[in-house]
Amino acid sequence: MLALSSLPCLPPAASTPIGAEVRRGLTSRPKTLSPWLFYDQRGSELFEAITELPEYYLTRTERGLFARCGDDILAAAGSPRLAILELGAGTAAKTGLLLQAAVRRQGSVTYYPIDISASALEHARRNISQQLPQVTVKPRVADYTTSLDVIPSSGCRRLVLYIGSSIGNFDPSQAAALLRALRRRLAPGDLLLLGVDHIKDRGTLLRAYNDAAGVTAEFNRNALLRINRDLGAAFRPRLFRHRALWNEPESRIEMHLESLVPQQVPIPALEIAIQFRRGETIHTENSYKFTPGSVCRLLARCGFSPVQDWTDPRRWFGLYLVAAA
Ligand code: AVJ
Repeated sequence: MLALSSLPCLPPAASTPIGAEVRRGLTSRPKTLSPWLFYDQRGSELFEAITELPEYYLTRTERGLFARCGDDILAAAGSPRLAILELGAGTAAKTGLLLQAAVRRQGSVTYYPIDISASALEHARRNISQQLPQVTVKPRVADYTTSLDVIPSSGCRRLVLYIGSSIGNFDPSQAAALLRALRRRLAPGDLLLLGVDHIKDRGTLLRAYNDAAGVTAEFNRNALLRINRDLGAAFRPRLFRHRALWNEPESRIEMHLESLVPQQVPIPALEIAIQFRRGETIHTENSYKFTPGSVCRLLARCGFSPVQDWTDPRRWFGLYLVAAA
């Protein structure tokens, strides 16, 4: 008979999502880590700080579009009453501008922010209920990449917000799979507002991911600190250099962490140690950039038909309103 104590037994952290992802990514060649690892408490704060950097034009440009075109967007969405949903809502900092436009148009609105972080949603709920009492906030804690069944059926026509160029983290086939999954959850006539970053001159793109104050570098290295905390690893973040590069053929900014020395990093919770050559990198993020044509083709392939789109005078960022066909 097999004694229970002889069964191989990995520490419990090995079977958590972070344990599984770190094992997968750091034992692959080239080494990779998924960008969701950035967003612990500290990482979310660093991202908020990034959105205020002078070089990081994305958030500011999109917010300007919401301020200038919010009423237009709601008008283009049409007459029946809307419920507004948001994928990856976070603290919903920019969304207030669209919710205000919805309140101006229909008097009140139900808002369903969906996010993996319960604490971010709590922030969102508190801020919005305080500033906009006409908005009923119904938060849903969920990972929209795996469980779109959280999308409420709601009596109204639904407007789904997927903004902030969040879709840029996914490669084209993942992005299409996500949009098709969303389309399957929607009824004909339901709407999607997609916010994406456009391709522009490489200097502007690179500066946005290589800021002078080094906040993006800290954000990138935060993935290592999180692995230290959650898996007992011994990464020394200063031994990794932040690198951002523009991969023009793939139309994406890539972020990497480059090992400055040959080193070995133990990860006790996974019972492994990871070897790094000098100059070897961990690829931590892709941030895809689009042209109006590439966005429209992607959306069309996924079952959405164009309604209207908006961009800023420099055409740096685009908002695409489409309907479930
Ligand atoms: C939140 C995925 C849109 O790609 O610009 C910011 C994340 N990474 N600086 C982006 C990010 C480095 C951001 N997204």
